[in-house]
Amino acid sequence: MRVAVYPGTFDPITNGHLDIVERAAGLFDCVIIAIADENYKENLFTLEERKDLVKKVCQDIPNIEVEAFQGLLADFVQKKKAYIIIRGLRAVSDFEYEFQMSVMNKKLNRDIETVFLTAANEYTFLSSSIIKQVASLGGSIKGLVPIVVEQALEDKFAERRKRS
Ligand code: COA
Repeated sequence: MRVAVYPGTFDPITNGHLDIVERAAGLFDCVIIAIADENYKENLFTLEERKDLVKKVCQDIPNIEVEAFQGLLADFVQKKKAYIIIRGLRAVSDFEYEFQMSVMNKKLNRDIETVFLTAANEYTFLSSSIIKQVASLGGSIKGLVPIVVEQALEDKFAERRKRS
């Protein structure tokens, strides 16, 4: 059985991520979406909220599992006996960082291979940060994130406005 791991922060999952998930699910027997707990980023959603959103968004894809991980990705991949890491490439600007990560992961465990999928054209400009920024300022993010994520962002910013 060919198991692949698709890691990320997913704060929150976008249609760009979903496109990669769906295509990876067509290539491998099982794809584990691995949500990084701490990733040197200040997250809007808690780990549980991010995991819950990913689960909801991917519930109709049968060969997907959703898990959180802490520490090194290479260790998580080994623990899962997966050895394949999926990463999405949106633009040339992603390449340097992705190249560094793939070489470092291979250094940590030489059995690990990174497979890059190029992002669909319509999502090459997307990032979770830009979605959060537009949503926080009341702009439309329709078609860029799944509906449950759109609603979760709306609720999160409404709750924040109420508190401030
Ligand atoms: N469509 C839309 N957006 C995408 C995307 C796609 N296909 N692919 C990535 N992005 C966006 C993400 O939303 C994210 O946006 P943000 O920076 O605004 O939040 C950005 O691109 C990068 O995110 P992602 O690809 O998910 O990577 P990440 O930086 O969130 O996560 C880890 C990177 C978790 C895989 C990496 O840090 C890691 O492995 N951490 C564990 C510790 C470790 O092992 N470190 C050593 C690594 S060699």
